[in-house]
Amino acid sequence: MVQWSESERTIINGIFSHLDYDDLGPKAFSRCLIVYPWTQRYFSSFGNLHNAEAIMGNANVAAHGIKVLHGLDLGLKHMDDIMGAYAELSSLHSEKLHVDPDNFKLLSDCITIVVAAKLGKAFTPETQAAFHKFLAVVVSALGKQYH
Ligand code: HEM
Repeated sequence: MVQWSESERTIINGIFSHLDYDDLGPKAFSRCLIVYPWTQRYFSSFGNLHNAEAIMGNANVAAHGIKVLHGLDLGLKHMDDIMGAYAELSSLHSEKLHVDPDNFKLLSDCITIVVAAKLGKAFTPETQAAFHKFLAVVVSALGKQYH
């Protein structure tokens, strides 16, 4: 089981209490589609993803970015059982959506970048370490139901 220090819990809860999902969700997800264009293949129903401008102006992309950030709430609410909390979402991404699990890390890196840009100086190395650990555990949990 993953162990969390009190300081890690405080930092992680502190970060999420300040995050504006409606702003950062679209920014993180559109960044992922632009920087790692092969991730676009799962979103053919989302409409125009032809270039960065189209992706950033795409309402389906924005809505999905918000949905993904809300997906992190699961981990936040179940920090002591993150694997269990993501079992269902992991099965969905594996069995139904057939998402290559390597992509989870790419999206989590994009989330880190937009959070770092937002927090500025407050994104200290200690903050980064706690946030990185949280996302790494979520990424691992999302990959858990792959066989
Ligand atoms: C759907 C979370 C990464 C592809 C979803 C949903 C959530 C979610 C909450 C909605 C599930 C539902 O409707 O019941 C996450 C989290 C991720 C992640 C927390 C990592 C931090 C990815 C990545 C890809 C992906 C990297 C592909 C590159 C999809 C697709 C859907 C989906 C295709 C269905 C979209 C639709 O048609 O509405 N994800 N996801 N996810 N996710 Fe992920």
